[in-house]
Amino acid sequence: MRIAIVILALCAAAYAQQCVPVPDRVDCHPDPDASEENCLARGCQWCTGDEGTPWCHVPANYGYKMVGTPEETPNGYRVTLSRSTNASYFGNDAETLTATFEVQSDYRLRIKITDGTDRFEVPLKINPPASEPASPLFSIEFTNDPVFSFKVIRQSTGTVVFDTSLGGLTFSDQFIQLGIKIPSTNAYGIGENEQPSYRHDFSKFTPVPLFARDQSPTGYKNSYGVHPYYTVIENDGNAHSVVIVNSNAQEFVIQPTPGYVYRTIGGLLDIYVFLGPTVEETVQQFTEAIGRQSIPPYFGLGFQLCRWGYDSIETMQATVNRTAAAGIPQDIQYGDIDIMQSELDFTYDPTRFHDLPAYVTELKSKGIKFIPIVDPFIKYDEPRGTYPALDLGDQMDVWMKRSSGEPWIGNCWPGQVYYPDYSRNSTKQWWAILLREYKNLIDYDGIWIDMNEPANWGKGDVVVGCENNKYNNPPYVPAIETRDLVDNTACMDVEQDFGIHYDTHSLYGWSESEPTTTAVRDILGKRSIVVSRSTFLGSGNWVAHWLGDNMSTWSNMKASIIALLHFNLFGMPYAGSDICGFGMNSNEEMCTRWQQLGAFYPYSRNHNALGNIEQDPAVWGPESRESTRRALLIRYTLIPYLYTLFFHHKTKGSTVVRALFHEFTKDPVTHGIDEQMMWGSGFLISPVLREGHDSVTAYFPDARWYSYYDGAEVNVRGAYTNLDAPFGFINLHVRGGNILPTQEPAMNTDASRQNPFGLIIALDDESLAEGTLYYDDGNSIEPQDSGLYFLTSYTYNNGTLRNQVERNEFSEMSQKVLNTIRLMGVDREVTGMTVNGNAHTDFTQLPSGEVQVNNLNLTMVTPFTITFQ
Ligand code: NOJ
Repeated sequence: MRIAIVILALCAAAYAQQCVPVPDRVDCHPDPDASEENCLARGCQWCTGDEGTPWCHVPANYGYKMVGTPEETPNGYRVTLSRSTNASYFGNDAETLTATFEVQSDYRLRIKITDGTDRFEVPLKINPPASEPASPLFSIEFTNDPVFSFKVIRQSTGTVVFDTSLGGLTFSDQFIQLGIKIPSTNAYGIGENEQPSYRHDFSKFTPVPLFARDQSPTGYKNSYGVHPYYTVIENDGNAHSVVIVNSNAQEFVIQPTPGYVYRTIGGLLDIYVFLGPTVEETVQQFTEAIGRQSIPPYFGLGFQLCRWGYDSIETMQATVNRTAAAGIPQDIQYGDIDIMQSELDFTYDPTRFHDLPAYVTELKSKGIKFIPIVDPFIKYDEPRGTYPALDLGDQMDVWMKRSSGEPWIGNCWPGQVYYPDYSRNSTKQWWAILLREYKNLIDYDGIWIDMNEPANWGKGDVVVGCENNKYNNPPYVPAIETRDLVDNTACMDVEQDFGIHYDTHSLYGWSESEPTTTAVRDILGKRSIVVSRSTFLGSGNWVAHWLGDNMSTWSNMKASIIALLHFNLFGMPYAGSDICGFGMNSNEEMCTRWQQLGAFYPYSRNHNALGNIEQDPAVWGPESRESTRRALLIRYTLIPYLYTLFFHHKTKGSTVVRALFHEFTKDPVTHGIDEQMMWGSGFLISPVLREGHDSVTAYFPDARWYSYYDGAEVNVRGAYTNLDAPFGFINLHVRGGNILPTQEPAMNTDASRQNPFGLIIALDDESLAEGTLYYDDGNSIEPQDSGLYFLTSYTYNNGTLRNQVERNEFSEMSQKVLNTIRLMGVDREVTGMTVNGNAHTDFTQLPSGEVQVNNLNLTMVTPFTITFQ
């Protein structure tokens, strides 16, 4: 395999020091207090202009030059670079660099740039691609004019997907910078943070800092997780995505070029480009590399109730009881820190939460699972001999330490605390022991890991502070909140087995995730949920994610869709926001609308903060309760479809929730839509996101669409239309061409799993439809690997529906039946039908044209043929 290389002629022309056009300027003074004097002292260019544009910017000839020509390697090229400029941001620039270009498959390119010294590399396992390169979708072009840069070019179209001729490269010990020109302004991703729109806004210079922080989603502020990953839809509808595997404090500047200027203050540049060419393929290729989320336990797709601020077990019980009394399904109840004694992990308060273990057993007998919270920190000044987590932690030497060898001390819920170093083997063992003992105390079904950025109410060590050194006070700090690395967390020179905290800070929650999931799986012997606040690339291998401490505001409700779409791009589709908002008081209208939307979050949990009024769905008036009940019963009806989407995610890397442009990439209107979302390819959700509105403007791309409620076909396509959305109602549509498996709903999934199945068949323009059902026992570990599952496909063609069982290794499936069909889009009167050749008369046709078939009573595992006349 060879890829094209074009080495452009070296241009000897000296680049006069001149102002770079504003959109292409790379800020040469991203740190505060830029002035002409400071700028010129760096050897940079000062050109005044509009506020918010880089007056101080890198000159055109800034960067590195290639030494000789690129050297061929077995799977790509190696390029030696030599620094060609005196301009320098912070000094200490590497004089020589090596850039390697590794063609890992036809669709995956890895680019690594480093200075040959021993630098931190993220200990993330990158899986090899399924196939060796044969005919790469891309070529690479190098230039030395005016300095070294390279382009990754899509072979089929000539589109330059990745072009580093934006400013020059900077590589110093604690400041690395690369400008990337991208081929369009339809670009998405880079988290975790709250973004005002899903599509990035390239009209100005916006820094997007990434550094794990206990920070509620607010604007572009760096928040809990770090996912340096973006997706671009090229102008002709092809798509690619890029990940930069780096865990140091970092930022992307979204800028008008259009492009991103990437900066990190440690590690090295380790970049993967995924060439798609479809949007879904970019996610599949990315998640093939970093790993995919496990199929959640079946109960995990039910509705979940949580709050911080149940003052007693009686309040928790009252909430659960009124939920049931309102006919609202519930699968999981959480215990937040209120259940703990003095906010100590692995305890429960014997007074306020007396008999909690017995109550958990009672809940389980009703089909409701229980998940308690566990924080990472352990109170260190409890009397020795009274708190096993502490004693055993000391004994097993589990704490993160200062260079003096003493554990560092932070401050959080229980008071002054130590933090475990989850990268250490003894810590993983200690954690597993504690989780096992806790299970003996409370018969939990999953674990909620919180505050794992790690959070600390102080700046570094709250007793001795942080030393003034290059880690705690580096020459440059990205535009993170407070611009202070140690604010709200550990000192950066704290040592962990896998590196100094300066390098590993954003990996803390990630490093807690694998040991927690492994231990819980081992202890329970079955699938469970571990839900984590802090995440990093690849966290999806182990944990689910809730989107943190949002507020009870309409704008936060809308932002939840964007965040959910992000986490689907990031390979963590099992995600959702706190329904009705965590901070601030909710109100009936907002909470009702949010429950309607949240019924379609893959991770569907209502959660509330201490001190706020109650907002569980049964606390509101009858109309609101009924609305939530209806929306959740629809969710429960569709769980077989949702579960199947998770199977497709795990086995292929597909998204579960997706933006419309994944399905209709060629339609430019879809590129900006972030107030609607889809489940897979077949189901469209168009919520009301504004106060006082009883209609919604929804876009219907060019396809046939049917109302979920009565099968009526939408009378526009490729257009916006206004839909009625009265208080208790959410608009839901099925896309022609799809067959959605369903199951009769119930008050929890234990019960709904016993019910008959159904199919929703929505016909496309050719009167065709197809779909799949994946099903298993709901709680065995990694069933896609063990093979113990049921998989069937359904096709509707020419008036005939057929099933084809592809795998029949879940024995209970033979007891289950298909009972109902809803057929949408038959544009004629259906006069009769046969099932396996015999007439079946139990069907009706609605005024909308939908045909509803009942009492089929067909075994799920047996082939059938159903014909509509
Ligand atoms: C912060 C978490 O984000 C929130 O969900 C939780 O309720 C509180 N910690 C208390 O544990």
